[in-house]
Amino acid sequence: MKIPNFGGFGRTRQSAIYTDGVSGRSPKVPTDFPSLEKAARKAMSPRGWAYVAGGAGAGDTMDANREAFRRWRIVPRMLNDVSDRTLSTTLFGRELPAPFLFAPVGASELAHPSGDIGVAKAAADLGLPYIFSNQGCSPMEETAAVMGDSPRWFQLYWSTDDELVDSLLRRAEAIGADAVVVTVDTTMLGWRPEDLNIGSLPFSRAQGIAQYTSDGRFREMVRERIGAAGSVDGDNDANSSNVRPTISALKTLFSIAKRYPGPFLKNLTAPEPRAGVETFLNTYSRPSLNWEDLATIKSKTSLPVLVKGILHPDDAAKALEIGLDGIIVSNHGGRQVDNTISALDALTTIVPVVDGEVPVIFDSGIRSGSDAFIALALGADAVTVGRPHLYGLAIDGWEGARDAVANIVAELDLTVGLSGYSSVSDVGPDALNRS
Ligand code: GLV
Repeated sequence: MKIPNFGGFGRTRQSAIYTDGVSGRSPKVPTDFPSLEKAARKAMSPRGWAYVAGGAGAGDTMDANREAFRRWRIVPRMLNDVSDRTLSTTLFGRELPAPFLFAPVGASELAHPSGDIGVAKAAADLGLPYIFSNQGCSPMEETAAVMGDSPRWFQLYWSTDDELVDSLLRRAEAIGADAVVVTVDTTMLGWRPEDLNIGSLPFSRAQGIAQYTSDGRFREMVRERIGAAGSVDGDNDANSSNVRPTISALKTLFSIAKRYPGPFLKNLTAPEPRAGVETFLNTYSRPSLNWEDLATIKSKTSLPVLVKGILHPDDAAKALEIGLDGIIVSNHGGRQVDNTISALDALTTIVPVVDGEVPVIFDSGIRSGSDAFIALALGADAVTVGRPHLYGLAIDGWEGARDAVANIVAELDLTVGLSGYSSVSDVGPDALNRS
């Protein structure tokens, strides 16, 4: 594929927006995060907003992620001739036009019906990797099909069924994923009041479980469950068939029947769709997951493996010890444990331990080009963008997701140049001052 050149993209994008402004058009997708967030909230349902924007507990981790950026200030240098710039970088042997990846975000259809397909089109249009969510809304094969040869990675949640893990890994290899990201901070869902207060878990409506329901091993597990129970009543209560027959329960049933593979009418009465949701709810979280489990992953796949959710330098050291290929410093966008260390503060303790041995990717809190600059200056090799792309998707479908990320890339290009650098790879800690 042709790699876009984002050196100079800041000015190109500015000009396009200002030219449209001459004819009275302003961008559909706001160019700063607070306005983006506001517009997305308007475009989304309360359930969608609760899931995507919500965080753990009182939201202190989300606040900490943002506050951490404010403790660092960029110190621009002048008169360096920055007319010729590049943002390009290489990860796992592939040249990327800019050091950004689309983060895995589950249940994307809550933002827009195009869901993962929309996000995939956006990422492919920018030539940036999309890390497919294990909680995606389309089977990974369908998502990959709209990306041409643009880079895609796969995020794995290690469920209680090892055969399912193997099957997902085989599928990730078959769709040409460049890498696998094992998320280890979500062995259980965090305490999320925005969802809890309205009793909303997308997965119990079959939103965000398409990687499972399209999986041969998973479907076998569902059949085993139906066979063993002689009925679809499982031991998980979120979807058990003894829920009261209310309008909401009916809506849930319709939602499941619509999303489960197979004809809608048949799905309304067949046991498999509901048993499928129950099987998912009973197997997706694995609190017992440990370093010995993780150490086996390299024997399970030929792909590079990154671990996502690392916040302590000793955990980073362990990941290196077991031979993993990359580390994603992340607190899951503040969605798992309230009042944790910010991801940016964690980055500063992890970079020296990793010491360039493997790529370090930063996740959690990137909202602008200057945020990306700071994370890169502190030693990240690349950053992920999560909520912003989903907000763009909510506002204007795939083009909105693309524009939301393009704005951040454009701002990074200008920040790099206006700070006196020609290449993103030259940006280091001496570009910053800790205030
Ligand atoms: C899952 O990844 C979530 O954060 O809900």
